[in-house]
Amino acid sequence: MVDSILDRVSIREFDMNRDTEVVGKLERNCEIGTKKGVSIFSNMMGDPFSRIRFYPLHVMLVAELLESGELVGVVRGCIKTVGTATGGTLVKMGCILGLRVSPAYRRMGIGLKLVNLVEEWMLKHGAQYTFLATEKNNNASMNLFTVKCNYMNLSSLIIFIQPTGLPRKNISKDIKIDKLRIDQAISLYKSKLRGKDLYPLDIDMILKEKLSLGTWISYFKDESRMNLNNRENNEDFSDTPSSWVIFSIWNTCKTYELQIKKSQPLKFFHTTLCNAREKIFPCLRMPVSDSLSRPFGFLFLYGLHGEGENLGELMESIWSFTSQLGESMKDCKVVITELGLTDPLTKHVPQNSSISRIDDIWYVKNIIGHIHGKDESLKGPAGNVFVDPRDF
Ligand SMILES: CC(C)(COP(=O)(O)OP(=O)(O)OC[C@H]1O[C@@H](n2cnc3c(N)ncnc32)[C@H](O)[C@@H]1OP(=O)(O)O)[C@@H](O)C(=O)NCCC(=O)NCCS
Repeated sequence: MVDSILDRVSIREFDMNRDTEVVGKLERNCEIGTKKGVSIFSNMMGDPFSRIRFYPLHVMLVAELLESGELVGVVRGCIKTVGTATGGTLVKMGCILGLRVSPAYRRMGIGLKLVNLVEEWMLKHGAQYTFLATEKNNNASMNLFTVKCNYMNLSSLIIFIQPTGLPRKNISKDIKIDKLRIDQAISLYKSKLRGKDLYPLDIDMILKEKLSLGTWISYFKDESRMNLNNRENNEDFSDTPSSWVIFSIWNTCKTYELQIKKSQPLKFFHTTLCNAREKIFPCLRMPVSDSLSRPFGFLFLYGLHGEGENLGELMESIWSFTSQLGESMKDCKVVITELGLTDPLTKHVPQNSSISRIDDIWYVKNIIGHIHGKDESLKGPAGNVFVDPRDF
């Protein structure tokens, strides 16, 4: 009887000395999205841990062919604690990131085996749930997780993408955008995040990370009560204006690189769109031959939270502010944000033809359910979530 490929594959932990170059090659040869003859390949810029090193508990597993030592698959995982709206329960969550199987070895069960083993690692390290995000159109990934691994739909989100450098509206003279000190940002977020369906508990770590460029508040100027600098008590936000939006910006450059390969005619474009997830390129309304032919990165707008009646103009000011910041940065060509479908700010994202939208789905599985009975902390739908910039 012929051996199945799975009998000839061993799954083991990534070895920095042995595997860095080979995994880099695997990532670069493993397309994660296509559009009209253009394939997208990722490049971790020599650091295969770039997407998980923010988390103290992380792992990377590789699938190796026993006969040749060739690496044909990779998966990354990390563990974090998140807060949920269901009674403020805290949940230890394992996140699956960067799953790839070499095209020549797909549909042989290697992806499933990698997922099973990364879940095992997560369970061993105390995770109650496992989680992953994937583009709605990624059938292979959706089937793998829902049909084969029993993941459930937790949340539907929209990724908004806008190239910088296009004609844009000036920020209205009636609007003021103030930068918060990190301690102010931490207290404001801590007091507001509890209203979200899902949020990271270590917001202070995120805001203190060097990739986080800062946190700002946008509000109408005539509401001069927003006097942040003289604020004595960082916990007291009773004098916030009637309408305001808080936002933070994450600079993803220099950590993750994508490469675009055009098949007709064969031509290679090298880009440094840094830390872009597998889903953003297929929807970019940018001429590949022009903007993507040169290295570029993007800014990720995160931690958006707004209160009040007049959020539309404030959201416009934030897009303009972030685009302006991106334009001042070498290599930045895109601004991206991601919001849950029922996040109150989603309907206020400026509607213009240069903004592309991608449907994203978050899947979750209770991996200890069979031990502890029915745990419904994360049973979805979670429509108003904090999108962690470290996972994007
Ligand atoms: C998604 C991916 C990792 C799957 O790896 P794989 O080794 O081919 O997966 P498996 O062979 O273990 O397949 C398990 C199941 O997933 C589903 N599946 C896998 N590929 C599929 C495809 N192309 N179309 C539809 N379903 C598919 C099937 O249900 C399959 O079971 P079956 O073969 O018994 O029908 C692989 O296609 C890949 O690397 N894609 C590019 C990167 C990517 O999209 N990663 C996921 C990001 S979250």
